[in-house]
Amino acid sequence: MAVRSVAVPSEAVAGFDEMVSGTQRKYYMLGGKGGVGKTSCAASLAVKFANNGHPTLVVSTDPAHSLSDSFAQDLTGGQLVPVDGPDCPLFALEINPEKAREEFRSVTQKDGGTGVKDFMDGMGLGMLVEQLGELKLGELLDTPPPGLDEAIAISKVMQFLESQEYSMFTRIVFDTAPTGHTLRLLSLPDFLDASIGKILKLKQKLASATSAIKSVFGQEQTQQNAADKLEKLRERMIKVRELFRDTEATEFVIVTIPTVMAVSESSRLRSSLTKENVPVKRLIVNQILPPSASDCKFCAMKRKDQMRALDMIRSDPELSNLIMVQAPLVDVEIRGIPALKFIGDIIWK
Ligand SMILES: Nc1ncnc2c1ncn2[C@@H]1O[C@H](COP(=O)(O)OP(=O)(O)OP(=O)(O)O)[C@@H](O)[C@H]1O
Ligand SMILES: [Mg+2]
Repeated sequence: MAVRSVAVPSEAVAGFDEMVSGTQRKYYMLGGKGGVGKTSCAASLAVKFANNGHPTLVVSTDPAHSLSDSFAQDLTGGQLVPVDGPDCPLFALEINPEKAREEFRSVTQKDGGTGVKDFMDGMGLGMLVEQLGELKLGELLDTPPPGLDEAIAISKVMQFLESQEYSMFTRIVFDTAPTGHTLRLLSLPDFLDASIGKILKLKQKLASATSAIKSVFGQEQTQQNAADKLEKLRERMIKVRELFRDTEATEFVIVTIPTVMAVSESSRLRSSLTKENVPVKRLIVNQILPPSASDCKFCAMKRKDQMRALDMIRSDPELSNLIMVQAPLVDVEIRGIPALKFIGDIIWK
């Protein structure tokens, strides 16, 4: 039986030269279906950047972190932790979603009484709560919507990066949560912006009318704090949204595997990203069976399936125009710097 090469040369090059060139800060977000290899790809890209002269930060915004496992180092704690091994500084950050969420909840819980109703009452807007029902504000503030953890995590990272101390980082790699979360994250800033924007506008309009009420309740300071925090949150969410849409600085890399199910989902992800104006250039097709001269029955079947999925990608209107990078299924677990360097040198060429 003839040896079949899986890597078609014209499709095999990721264009790492372009990714590595320039010293202006760039953000790479790796996303896709659960278990396809997002963390492995993100970690290996971060190692490769760091070994090619870029002080790099790799961030996990997936509530189920696995950077520590991938690097085989303890990177937990919600702070920047240096990763031992690469030539240039490489730091990792696993954002603690619980903490991020607490911060958001404190906006309404600690300063605003027991929830949105009190918050609105305190601002003298109690009678408007019902009218605002269609904004789903109560829901928004009392039960944070899915995607908020990630959005706050990303805005936290941006805060870190604005400080002088961390200005050295020129490449930021995000290991994102599986597709569903990412999509909700993308629509979240608009949703928050609209909701919070409206409430703040209303507050302004009614400021004079409510000042009397507020002083009666003696809650002016508290409500001001809550409003300030909401405003700050809104500003940060706008920044996250802008970051995702910044063609110059940001690229979303879709990671998939050669199965019909994964390819279908990747196609939908690309379509959603396009709708949200998020720049996508590259598609990593991971876990491709390496060439073999003697396939067993199982491998032959598997290979046939994978070929079919690859063909599907080539004819998919959402995916066919992306740079397709084929990454082999390797026979060892990708764990620790040497393994990440090894796989990184294969994927990121
Ligand atoms: N090309 C590959 N060859 C061999 N094993 C791989 C390959 N890519 C990933 N794996 C393994 O598959 C498992 C899942 O990979 P990884 O954690 O990177 O995926 P993920 O997309 O981040 O998953 P999750 O959605 O759970 O975050 C890991 O055990 C990893 O070592
Ligand atoms: Mg992962």
